[in-house]
Amino acid sequence: MKQTQRLDKILAHVGVGTRSELKRLAKEGAIYVNGVKVKDSGMQVNPDKDIITVNGEVVTYREFVYLMMNKPQGVVSATEDNRDRTVVDLLDDEYAPFEVFPVGRLDKDTEGFLLLTNDGKLAHNLLSPRKHVPKTYYAKVEWEVNEADREAFSHGVTLDDGYETLPGDLKILQTGNEVAGIPSEIELTIMEGKFHQVKRMFQAVGKQVIFLKRISMGPLGLDPALGLGQVRELSSDELTALRTANENQN
Ligand code: URA
Repeated sequence: MKQTQRLDKILAHVGVGTRSELKRLAKEGAIYVNGVKVKDSGMQVNPDKDIITVNGEVVTYREFVYLMMNKPQGVVSATEDNRDRTVVDLLDDEYAPFEVFPVGRLDKDTEGFLLLTNDGKLAHNLLSPRKHVPKTYYAKVEWEVNEADREAFSHGVTLDDGYETLPGDLKILQTGNEVAGIPSEIELTIMEGKFHQVKRMFQAVGKQVIFLKRISMGPLGLDPALGLGQVRELSSDELTALRTANENQN
């Protein structure tokens, strides 16, 4: 990014106001840069160095935001949709100027960890099939998931379109029983993200996923304090972990 930028562009980006509102604020004497009253809201400033205040409050500039969402069922992983509510509709207005998008997709009926950001480069790296970023899912499956399935997944299975998956790591938390009406509970870690991949991997071994939740992505686990539909920003440690894992993954 350039070192200096138009002040009104920076302030609009962090949601202080539109360009015309900022022009008015400057006219009213509400904006200062390094203690000097701003006359021209189009002046050039360096957001990393210059101290900008609006109505006496310091404006913290940042280009990117990184959000962890516990996605609920019933919303689609998109920025816009003609029919359904999207994950972006669940965000507070304060994030609107950043124009975040979901990093990859969870199905409408899948819950759990979804990362949203406007950092296209990080998103691209996380989604790159070459990076093999591990994703872990918790699922309820009808009915008995067993050692043979674990073995099959450990080699990779063939999906309905003939695609051979990479090996997946299956942990059986509870073995289901059809007669008793109890589904299996499992955790599956996969390194890729084909369309409906977890559901189709189980289909490949003749079983059906009835509940699916993503519980981790790369080094980050879903924060248990986040209720369904809730969102929080990643901490700087989490962001560093994500970036580092991403650089080292191949
Ligand atoms: N696999 C699926 O089948 N669905 C998802 O939403 C994510 C992974």
